[in-house]
Amino acid sequence: MDVPILISPSVLNADLADLTREIGRISSADYVHLDVMDNHFVPNMTFGLPVVERVLATTDVPADVHLMIDAPDTWAPAFAEAGAASVTFHAEAATAPVRLARELRAQGARAGLALRPATGIESYLDLLPEFDMVLVMTVEPGFGGQSFITGTLPKIRRTRDAITRSGADVWIQVDGGVSRETIGAAAEAGANIFVAGSAVYSAEDPVEEIAALREAATAAFRP
Ligand code: DX5
Ligand code: ZN
Repeated sequence: MDVPILISPSVLNADLADLTREIGRISSADYVHLDVMDNHFVPNMTFGLPVVERVLATTDVPADVHLMIDAPDTWAPAFAEAGAASVTFHAEAATAPVRLARELRAQGARAGLALRPATGIESYLDLLPEFDMVLVMTVEPGFGGQSFITGTLPKIRRTRDAITRSGADVWIQVDGGVSRETIGAAAEAGANIFVAGSAVYSAEDPVEEIAALREAATAAFRP
């Protein structure tokens, strides 16, 4: 199966008062990663549905929404209904992850299942075809600018091996501490969609940084 290499910059550390302009600076990206936090599931709070709706209305870059919130069963479908291309919720927070994924897909969105660094993939392996993406968090969720946890690499590898065995078309996303230094290891372990916040937005030229990340991931990717 042809696995695409995709870059999804996170605007968490961009200028949140001028999102349209900030997303304009990453027009070469495959997705824009939008981190929704509720100060319950993680100790930080960002923005919610009204802001995501405005982003959807004002940019052409497809939205990759990462919900770091409690009760995603209640809140996630509205993001899909609003037109987000991809909606990812946390396994630790969902009551019925398969039912929720089916609901998101029925709304036309890709459905993503996110795992904190200490959450195993094992209990989800037989359910992989129910999802379009597994997000392996490579930092503890909540803040940008943290350093990549290399202990998550074996989980990425086990997930990629299980996807290959099942023949399902499921992407593996990594999020947290992804930079030119760390992206190769994640791609080599089997990740194919890369969130990068500070690496892209602290670069002088975000478009050039996206190209460099894409190139490093493509060179290292092993399915
Ligand atoms: C953190 C968020 C990430 C964050 C990544 O919990 O989910 O998307 O923006 O930021 P960096 O790339 O700076 O680690
Ligand atoms: Zn994120």
